[in-house]
Amino acid sequence: MGDKSKPNDSKGQEQVYQPSDSIVKNAHVADYDTLYKRSIEDREGFWADEAAKLDWYKKWDKVLDASNKPFYKWFTGGKTNIIQNAIDRHLKTWRRNKLAIIWEGEPGDVRTFSYHALNREVSKFANVLKSMGVRKGEIVTIYMPQIPELAIAMLACAKIGAAHSVVYGGFSVEALAERIQDANSRVLVTADGGWRRGKITDLKTIANEAIGRSATIEVCITVKRTGQDVYMENDRDFWYHELMGLPIAGAKCETEQMDAEDMLFILYTSGTTGRPKGVLHTHGGYSVYTATTHRYVFDIKDEDRWWCAADPGWITGHSYIVYAPLINGSTIMMYEGAPNHPYPNRWWQMVEKYGISILYTSPTAIRGLMRFGDQWPQRHDTSSLRLLGSVGEPINPEAWRWYHEIIGEGRCPIMDTWWQTETGGFVITPLPITPLKPGSATLPFFGHEVAVVDDNGKDVQTGEEGKLVLKAPWPGMARTIFGDPERYKEVYWKDYAKQGWYKAGDSARIDEDGYVWIIGRIDDVIKVSGYRLGTAEVESALVSHADVSEAATIALPHELKGNAIYAYAILRTGLQGSPELEDAIKKHVSHELGPIARPESVTFVESLPKTRSGKIMRRVLKARALGVDEGDLSTLEE
Ligand code: WTA
Repeated sequence: MGDKSKPNDSKGQEQVYQPSDSIVKNAHVADYDTLYKRSIEDREGFWADEAAKLDWYKKWDKVLDASNKPFYKWFTGGKTNIIQNAIDRHLKTWRRNKLAIIWEGEPGDVRTFSYHALNREVSKFANVLKSMGVRKGEIVTIYMPQIPELAIAMLACAKIGAAHSVVYGGFSVEALAERIQDANSRVLVTADGGWRRGKITDLKTIANEAIGRSATIEVCITVKRTGQDVYMENDRDFWYHELMGLPIAGAKCETEQMDAEDMLFILYTSGTTGRPKGVLHTHGGYSVYTATTHRYVFDIKDEDRWWCAADPGWITGHSYIVYAPLINGSTIMMYEGAPNHPYPNRWWQMVEKYGISILYTSPTAIRGLMRFGDQWPQRHDTSSLRLLGSVGEPINPEAWRWYHEIIGEGRCPIMDTWWQTETGGFVITPLPITPLKPGSATLPFFGHEVAVVDDNGKDVQTGEEGKLVLKAPWPGMARTIFGDPERYKEVYWKDYAKQGWYKAGDSARIDEDGYVWIIGRIDDVIKVSGYRLGTAEVESALVSHADVSEAATIALPHELKGNAIYAYAILRTGLQGSPELEDAIKKHVSHELGPIARPESVTFVESLPKTRSGKIMRRVLKARALGVDEGDLSTLEE
C-alpha cells in the first residue's frame, strides 16, 4: 500500500492528496517552484530550451516577437513542420517500429500503426491531396468519426503545408456548412458513417446536405467505414480507399518546410455571437507548447500507453490525441465509440486489454460511468494505470474521489487541466508531484502568470470570485481568429487592453495556497458535457424553425452533463405551443447543429426579458428558472 497517494487534512475540511514516493521519484520535474521561478524570470530562455528539444530545419532568430501586440509571434525565422517532429524524426530512431496508434472500433475491430506505417499512410494521403490540387495555405475541412483516417488526414494536410479545419463528427448540417464556407474549403474529407452505441451515424448524408448549402466544395473524399449506401456524385465524390490504391498515392512525400508562424490549423469554437470563430494555430509555437505541456504534466515515458478519450474534433483531441503524443513518440490509444457500449465496462476492458498507463478524459464521462457502479471497473485489472487526467469543465469532488479511488485505486494522481481552444494546451494544471485538492486545477504551468481580477484589473481578495486573466504570452496561444483579426482583439484583449492581459472568459477564485478554482464561463458560452456551444448558435438554430420567431437559451446545472441547455421560444403569431411542437423544435436543433445542442426543454413564452437596447437578459431567465434573486433589473425594458 506504500504506493498510494496520501490524503491528509490540511486546513479545515479540505483534503489534500500528496503524491506517492514512486511518483515523485520518477517525475520529470521534481521541483516545481524552482523551474516555475526560472520560467517567469527568463520566459524566453525557458521556452528556447524547450524548443531546442525538437528538430528544426532552421533555428529561430527570435523566441518572442511582441512588436505588434496582441498579435504575438514565436520562434520567428525558424523553419519547421509539426510533422518533422510528430513523425519524421522518429523514423530515424528505434521508434520507427514502435506503435504509434492502437485503434479500436466500437464493433470491436482493431487496427494498429507503427510510426513507420503511420508515415506511409500519411505520405500516401498527402500525395492524394496534392493530386487534388491542394496547396500550401489552403484549408481542408475534415468531418469524420473517430477512425485512424481522421488523424491521417490531419497529418497529411500538415505535411504538405495545407491547414485543416476539423469539424466535430457530432455536429450537423448547418454547423458544417457554415464552417466550410467560412474556411472557404475546396476539399472535404469525410466518411460514409461511424459507429455510436451500436448504431450507424449518417455522416456522408449530412456532408452532402452541407455541401449543397455551401458552394465552395469541389472535391469530397469519403472513407468507407460502415459500408452503408451513400450518395456519391460523379466528378465530385471519391472513395478514399480507391484513391489510396492508385499510383498517385505514392508512399514517398517530402515534408514541406514551413515558417514557424505558418498556419497549421483552424478550429471553430463558439463565442458570444452566432458566428463560430476559427481559432488559428501555427506550426512552431504550437509544437513546442503542446509537446512540453504533455511531457511535463503527464510525465510521459517511452513505455507509456496514452489514452486521451476525447474526440479529435475538439481542441483536446487535436493537441493531446494527435499532435503532442506523436511529437513525444508515445503510443496512442484511440477508440471510436461510446464508453458504455455494449456494457459500462467497455473502457476498463480496454485499459486492461492494452495496458493503458495514462487516461485523460472529462468529468462528464466520469460521472456517466460512475452511475453504473463500482462493479464495472472492478471486474478488470486496471493496475497498468499510473496517472489520470480531467478536462473540459470543473470536476466535482465526488466524481474526483470516485475516479481517484475506484479507477486509480488510490494510486494515480489526477491532473485536472484547465485550458481552452485558444490556449492550445494546458495552462493551469498540476504536475504529478503537486499536492492535489479535488476540484482545483491547482497552479499555473511554467511561463504563465495567472490572476483573478475585477473589471478594473485589480486582484480580488483571496477566495473571492473574479475574472480569470493570463498576464503573459505563451507559444501555444491562438494567433488570431481566421479572417477576423479585429474580433480576436475585441474578444480576448480589449477588456484589459491597458495591462495587455488575455481575458479567458471564465470566473475563478484563488485560495490561500495559490490554488486556482475554476467556477465557469461568464460569457454566453455553454459547456454541455464538456462540449463548447454558444447560446447564440443554439438560438439561431431555434429561430431557423419555421414556427419560431424569437428564442433565448440558458444553461442550467445538470447532474451528469455539468450544464444543460434550456430554451425559451416565442412562436409566430397565431401559433400555439404543444408537446409535439416542442419535440419537433428539439429535433430541428439536432438536425441543424447536432445532438449535443438539443435543448432539454423548450418553454413557449409571450415575451423575453430584454434590455432597452434589445439585448436578451439571459441572466434574468436563469435567475427565474433557478428561483433566485434576479439582481439588478434597472436596464430591463418590460
Ligand atoms: C472549461 C477545452 C474547469 C473552461 C480544453 C474553459 C475547464 C473552457 C477545465 C474551454 C477544467 C476546460 N476545469 N473548467 N479543467 N478545462 N474548462 O475551448 O470554461 O472547448 O474556458 O477547451 O472549458 O473550452 P474549450
